[in-house]
Formats: sequence, C-alpha cells, structure tokens
Amino acid sequence: MNAHDSEKVAGVLLARGYRQVESPDSADMVLFNTCSIREKAAQKVFTRLNDFRGQRGRNKVVGVLGCVAQQEGERIFERAPWVRMVCGSASYRNLPELLTEIEGGGTRVTGLNLDTDETFETEVTRRDNPFRAYLTIIEGCDYACSYCVVPHTRGPQRSRTSAAILNEVKHLVAGGFTEVQLLGQTVNSYRDPSAAQMNFSQLLRAVAAVPGIRRVRFTTSHPNDFTREIVDAIDSVPALCGHIHLPVQSGSSRILKEMRRTYTRAEYLERISWIRAAQRESSITTDIIVGFPGETDAEFTETLSLLDGVKFDGVFAFKYSPRPNTSAKDMPDAIPEEVKSQRLAILQQRQREIQISENQKFLASEFEVLVDGRHESRGQWSGRTTSNRIVNFTSPAQNLLGQYCQVKITGAGPNSLVGEHIA
Ligand code: 5AD
Ligand code: SF4
Repeated sequence: MNAHDSEKVAGVLLARGYRQVESPDSADMVLFNTCSIREKAAQKVFTRLNDFRGQRGRNKVVGVLGCVAQQEGERIFERAPWVRMVCGSASYRNLPELLTEIEGGGTRVTGLNLDTDETFETEVTRRDNPFRAYLTIIEGCDYACSYCVVPHTRGPQRSRTSAAILNEVKHLVAGGFTEVQLLGQTVNSYRDPSAAQMNFSQLLRAVAAVPGIRRVRFTTSHPNDFTREIVDAIDSVPALCGHIHLPVQSGSSRILKEMRRTYTRAEYLERISWIRAAQRESSITTDIIVGFPGETDAEFTETLSLLDGVKFDGVFAFKYSPRPNTSAKDMPDAIPEEVKSQRLAILQQRQREIQISENQKFLASEFEVLVDGRHESRGQWSGRTTSNRIVNFTSPAQNLLGQYCQVKITGAGPNSLVGEHIA
C-alpha cells in the first residue's frame, strides 16, 4: 500500500511538471513516504532525515509523508527543522494545494486532518511495476485491533465507487496491463458508496470481467469480512487469482480477544475450510505477531499448532512492537525481547519445514506463469503462478518478460519452485 501511495504521489508531481532525477542529491524536492507499523520502521525516518540536515534555508524542499507524518505531526518540525512539509495519507487529496504553498515559499506546511470521508483520486499514477498494476479500492480502517496504529494514521474506512475502480482498470488494460492487484488495509470490507452498491465479491467479478484482464489479486483480507461468496467467485472465475492473504495474528482465542481481532481460532479455521473445500487449489498466506503482552508458552504453542494444521504457503511473522495511541501499549505482562526473538525463530523454522514439504507436492505439476524477471547468471526466467508462487525456469525462448508461459515443475525449495518451459 505504501509503495502504491508513492506511485500516486509521484503521479501528482509529474502532472504538475516535476520530473524524477537520478539521486536525492540532485533533487529540488525530496519526499519521504514513511511507515509506523512497528517501532523500527518509524525510527528509520529520523535517521534518513538527518542526511538532509544542512538543507535549512536552502532551496531543496524536504517533506515527510505517510504514517509517521500523521503520527508525529508538527513534532517533526521540532526534531528536524529543515523539513518543510508534513502530510499524512488521509490528506493526499490536498497535495496540489500543499504544493502550491510550498512553491510559494511556504514552510511548515501541513496536511494532518484525519476526519475525512474522501479517497485520494489522481489523474496520473506513475507505475513502477510494468507487469502488475496496484489499485486502491478502500482506504483507512474501521477495526480497532489493540496493537495497531493504522486506524490512527490512515483514518476511517472509505471505499471508492465501483465506477471509478472499473474505469481505472479499463485504463490499465489500455496501458498494457493484464494483472491488477486491488489494495486495502481490509480490502474485503469494501462497500460501494454509489447506487450500484457492489459488495466485495461482486466487485471482484466485475473487475475480472473487464476485457483484457487475465489476473486479479487482492490484499489484505480481514477474516471477519471473509465470506463464502469470495471463495465461490474465485472458484468460478479463472481470472480471479487463487491466493488469499488472510492474517490470523495468533492461534490462541484468548490472545485474539486481547488483540480485538473479532474472531476466534475456530472461526478463522472455518474460513480456511471454505477455501480448502473449493474445486480450485488456492494458496493461503498469513501474518502473525509473536510476544503480544501476556502471551504464555502454551498460547504460543497454539499458534504453532495452527501453522501445522493450516500449512500456510507463506507467513509474515513479527515480534510485537508497542505503538503510540494503541490500547495494547500499556497492557501488563510485556514479553521480554529475548523471548520474543526465540518465539519468532521457532515459528520461522517450523514454517520453513512446512513450506519445504508442501512445495515438494508440486513436483511434475504444470503452472501458468506470468514472467516478471530474468536471472542472467543462472540462465533462468522468473515469474508467478496465479497462486502467487514464485517459479524460476529455463526456456529456449529469447524474451519472455511480460508473457504467460506453461511451466513444468522440476524442483522445489521453501520459497520458490524450479521448472522448465513447456509451451
Ligand atoms: N507489532 C508487531 N506487528 C504488528 N503488525 C501490526 N501492528 C503491529 C505491532 N504493533 C503486523 C500485523 C499486520 C502486519 C501488517 O503487521 O501482523 O497484519
Ligand atoms: Fe490494523 Fe486491525 Fe485495521 Fe488491520 S484490521 S489495519 S491490524 S486495525
């Protein structure tokens, strides 16, 4: 989502006549897009800003965008007085006005209003990935997970109209894209604000029906809004990709309650059973937080047993990091850093073993791969299956970038498959 926000902000600048330069040193304007999901990411910003310490009173404009901008607000000007603009993501639609102020010599220009029901629409978006186009369908978040800073930094949930989304998809096809990825913090909470009143699964079907679209991805889904209709849509529409990213966060119902995730372990597993019962094989990936306040060894073990039961295709695991403005920040029974690190290592090792043995099952299978890279030294092409699995493969063909190829799997590691081009 952050990468795509940057693409949209770059589009706003391009439309105003700015152009990209080779390095920050030669730029007249440097904007940092920032993340505050965990403390480490947020700290990075001030280290990077220090590189521009000498810019006070000079012509170079330094600005801070994104979640750290929203969270720290005007305090950024105190810590780094050479910064001239601070703007959170809920104010990006005001960027043209903020830029006008900056261009007129303004200092301490801010966009920090969170109270909005509007989304960020741009005429121009600079797409960095030529094969997969990102596309926001819903911004903000109305959940209140006790560890999470997002509702405080990205504001309330607001959906774009289905007409605006479908229009953008048609433009993307006209621009040569065949794969789109719909984005939102809780993408499947989508509610069309227009008279068409599409829900998420209806929108998925409508996007997949746009002529020229071959693959539709979406991320991130919230288990509470994950319906059988989504599984039915994937099952009956081949262009809808067979990959679901469904963050579980913990395998313990008590911890889930403390996290205010609004579902139990059993309810999460019920959604997994819907996906597994479908005709089409889909991959499932998840996010997990270890070391949430009060998490016992037994509760951590419940998370491990969930991994064993579900056999995820990929897991993004994080050590709990206390965040400002969240209710978990002041919870008792913080878990010591070394215990968090141990749990993370145990979990990652267990998951690695699961992925090694699961991926073996694909030996001799055939997949359609959209080619997005080349490893010259290994003589391999690289791409993704509909289920988002990475496949590295050999081929006698000359240039396959951007093409769909049939590949037969000949080898499997924990994070990727190896194969041969067969057609
Ligand atoms: N500490 C650790 N991980 C977090 N995440 C969100 N907030 C925190 C936090 N305070 C993780 C969740 C989420 C992913 C994007 O980041 O797993 O799904
Ligand atoms: Fe954060 Fe929870 Fe919203 Fe996801 S659903 S963005 S974890 S508050």
